[in-house]
Amino acid sequence: MKLIAGNWKMFKGPRETREFCAAFTAPEGVEAVLCPPYVSLAAAVESGQTVFAQNVHWADDGAYTGEISAPMLVELGVTGSIVGHSERRQYFGETDETVARRTVAALEHGLRVIACVGESLEERESGQMELVLRLQVEAVGDAVGAHERLVIAYEPVWAIGTGRMATPEQVREAHAFIKSLLDVPVLYGGSVKPERAELIAHEGVDGALVGGASLEVESFEAICRAAGAVQ
Ligand code: PGA
Repeated sequence: MKLIAGNWKMFKGPRETREFCAAFTAPEGVEAVLCPPYVSLAAAVESGQTVFAQNVHWADDGAYTGEISAPMLVELGVTGSIVGHSERRQYFGETDETVARRTVAALEHGLRVIACVGESLEERESGQMELVLRLQVEAVGDAVGAHERLVIAYEPVWAIGTGRMATPEQVREAHAFIKSLLDVPVLYGGSVKPERAELIAHEGVDGALVGGASLEVESFEAICRAAGAVQ
């Protein structure tokens, strides 16, 4: 079954989250996951949807102002977390090492993990794509191996929020490379829209991590339906 995760980023407080959840029904044949901001997690969990956080700290508790731990998420009924999103890497100093630490802690506490990897345009154009992906994937793989609750999301940075989705050939190539390094499901992320959702049907694509198009019930359901139809 394909996994479709909606990464809401810094959108939707509890009120909008409740409205979305009341209107959203996950189509048959697909696993739909919502990833709201921290303050909206409880509202999403209460609605009965499957809910992941957008980040998680590696310590159980401690003097880490602004951070949230895995046991806190578990207590809330959250069942997983994204880690290492490129926006975290780009704007908040996330490194391969901290991504690995977050992954270890989340898995230890029974959470599922979507660990994000992906090259920038500059890295792709200078022929460093495989090197970058190898470093990012191996950081996680060396820490936890092909864990049954671990999924990798391949999100080329140049495709995120740009409307410039990777081509099927680029996705096939990157997913095969990632799977050769670590044998876990691989999601594609980066400008996934309902009209291009057929990309999810390709071999080696185990689902999608959707940003912008996950904010509207209609477009997120359409992507989920497209993924559910290819079983
Ligand atoms: P996008 O974001 O679908 O808006 O490109 C994807 C992501 O950042 O996970």
